[in-house]
Amino acid sequence: MEKTINIGLFGLGVVGTGIVSVIARAKNAHAVIRRICVRNLDKPRSIELPEGLITDNPDDILLDPEIDLIVEVVDNAEASYRIVTAALRRGIPVVSGSKAMIARHLPELISLQRQHHTALLYDASSCGSIPVIRNLEEYYDNDLLLEVKGILNGSSNYILSRVFDHGEPYRQALKRAQELGFAESDPSFDIEGFDSLFKLIIITVHALGVYVAPSEIFTYGISTIHDADIRYAREKGMKIKLVAQVVKISPETFTMFVMPEFVSPSRYIYSVDDEYNGVVIRGECYDRQFMFGKGAGSLPTASSILSDVMARRHGYCYEYKKMAYPDRPAYTTDIPLKVYVRYFDTPVTSLLPFQRITEQYTSDENNYVIGEILLSDLIACRRQLSAPDVFVTNITRFFEE
Ligand code: HSE
Repeated sequence: MEKTINIGLFGLGVVGTGIVSVIARAKNAHAVIRRICVRNLDKPRSIELPEGLITDNPDDILLDPEIDLIVEVVDNAEASYRIVTAALRRGIPVVSGSKAMIARHLPELISLQRQHHTALLYDASSCGSIPVIRNLEEYYDNDLLLEVKGILNGSSNYILSRVFDHGEPYRQALKRAQELGFAESDPSFDIEGFDSLFKLIIITVHALGVYVAPSEIFTYGISTIHDADIRYAREKGMKIKLVAQVVKISPETFTMFVMPEFVSPSRYIYSVDDEYNGVVIRGECYDRQFMFGKGAGSLPTASSILSDVMARRHGYCYEYKKMAYPDRPAYTTDIPLKVYVRYFDTPVTSLLPFQRITEQYTSDENNYVIGEILLSDLIACRRQLSAPDVFVTNITRFFEE
């Protein structure tokens, strides 16, 4: 008879509630939730829980010798950091979905796992139900992997789908994404691209074995998208998607960024709509592989947590093998991109150091310019590009299909 795993759960929001439900259904998991720690004991809950299961004292879990594993899905990066580091220091394995916390602290979290001979698993942190992290860790070798690119944020994809396919106003679609439990409590993380960025950082560690800090990566969201951009994309037969990508530029270098992109119908991610995520993995020997699934929501994310709980039952931990490779590629932003920049008042053409302008349009209502610019220059001009009258979209030039 299999030993039962006693779980201490931190967080009982959208995902935490899903975990309670998924674990109750998964009889073969032989897992029980022994204690749940929440910030506010008085908050009304959508599920019935046995008397005494909930506490607001983290030590009721951290110091309980009967707890085998901690599941942490707290909606606060600082609290999540305190819980996860305290657990790892005590040698308790953790399954976490906290992408912002993981992306900011991954080097320290890796060293704590090694120091205390325990594991932190976090497949739920990236792309909800899609098992992208464990796949990259186990199946894709550094030398042969060329690109990981995709839609990593369900909320912004849901909003873009509603706006593009149903002509729904942007604000209304955002409100609906919040009601459906896809959006972060601060939805600017979703729509400004930071949620995608955190996932991309985690993915890059498992894809190429290199950690790059959030502040070093160009991140641009969809909050300033305008009817003019949607019209432009439609006229060209394309959609605009918020795309995160890590791309090998040469055997020695790679780049990564998050930015809206014009996507043509021939591309896999064109058909990834609503809260779905899609990840394209490209390699030297196998061309492209595509992973698709629900990237947000209570049960899809909870199912990924359960998968990590089961993996841990069998002693699984990430080995971070690629981080030990002697010839890891180096991160560069010294690469030219081709971008569309729409603007009204901001003098974009004089502010941005375009290497070459290939198309320019001006009218009383809006203007746009298409040109080549270094990624490092986009990073340097981040402030100007965040003006409310400006919207930037990438025009794919690497590995075009
Ligand atoms: N807010 C996130 C999203 C939740 O919309 O993708 C899943 O990480």
